[in-house]
Amino acid sequence: MNQQSPTEPNQGAAPGTPPASFFESNVKTRVLLIASGKGGVGKSSVTTNLAVALAKRENDVAVIDADVWGFSIPRMLGITEPPSVVDDMLIPPVAHGVRSISMGFFAEEDQPVIWRGPMLHKALNQFLTDVAWDEPDFLLIDLPPGTGDTAISLAGFLPDSEMLVVTTPQIAAQTVAQRAAFMAEKVDIEVRGVIENMSWFTGDDGQRYELFGEGGGSALAEKLGVPLLGQIPLVPALRAGSDNGNPVAVDTSTEIGSIFAEIARVVEEDLKPTKRRHRELKIN
Ligand SMILES: Nc1ncnc2c1ncn2[C@@H]1O[C@H](COP(=O)(O)OP(=O)(O)OP(=O)(O)O)[C@@H](O)[C@H]1O
Ligand SMILES: [Mg+2]
Repeated sequence: MNQQSPTEPNQGAAPGTPPASFFESNVKTRVLLIASGKGGVGKSSVTTNLAVALAKRENDVAVIDADVWGFSIPRMLGITEPPSVVDDMLIPPVAHGVRSISMGFFAEEDQPVIWRGPMLHKALNQFLTDVAWDEPDFLLIDLPPGTGDTAISLAGFLPDSEMLVVTTPQIAAQTVAQRAAFMAEKVDIEVRGVIENMSWFTGDDGQRYELFGEGGGSALAEKLGVPLLGQIPLVPALRAGSDNGNPVAVDTSTEIGSIFAEIARVVEEDLKPTKRRHRELKIN
């Protein structure tokens, strides 16, 4: 495995060492960290479906499942085959136009994975350096619940990442989601937007029921000074699709499919990368 240091991208690299392009500030790849303050709000579902929706817009999209404890991306994307190995590099499997890597390819789903800080740091580094990613348009990273070591490692490796915070509509959930934003600030990662999930459920009577309250997403977005990128309803098809590897974003003719398509459009077109990405451009 490649032992290249993330602080010295490509410099003095041995012949044949692949470029660790994500570590350079002039790559075109936009890295989106999908975060939340607590578990179970739909980070992995949002990561999977947003990735599929961005791929449907003709982008080259990659996903890193950084939840090495509770990996779920392979199942949600419906990937069954492991990565292949060519010249000591991992070739990520593809599903629905999205390439991905996950600890799920290297561990049994029912086996506990125990990570200490340095091991986790190394594993995340290897996901970036030992996988033949080339230069995708978007790299989405599904963070584990809460804050901590994973975000700190990734922020160090990928300082130009953009964070999207997923929250539920309860006003109370805001304070929790804000933790993700505080963490982002600590590690100097920019929060670019909020995505509200589980916003409403449409009953057989056609009525919208706001089961988890309302307004949490827009209130959090306002507090953080970033846009609310979209609201995703509770739909049984989303859960079913996550369980059987058929992400709902594949079919844009449905309400839920079109919602993910619109969030992908907003991320790609309205949320242009900021000038932070061009550190070499200094204004005197
Ligand atoms: N909008 C939705 N409609 C229906 N089910 C949903 C929706 N969003 C998420 N779910 C379901 O809720 C569960 C939790 O979602 P998910 O795994 O994406 O959350 P998470 O934030 O990644 O969780 P964790 O913190 O454990 O990683 C899953 O079973 C998922 O299918
Ligand atoms: Mg998850």
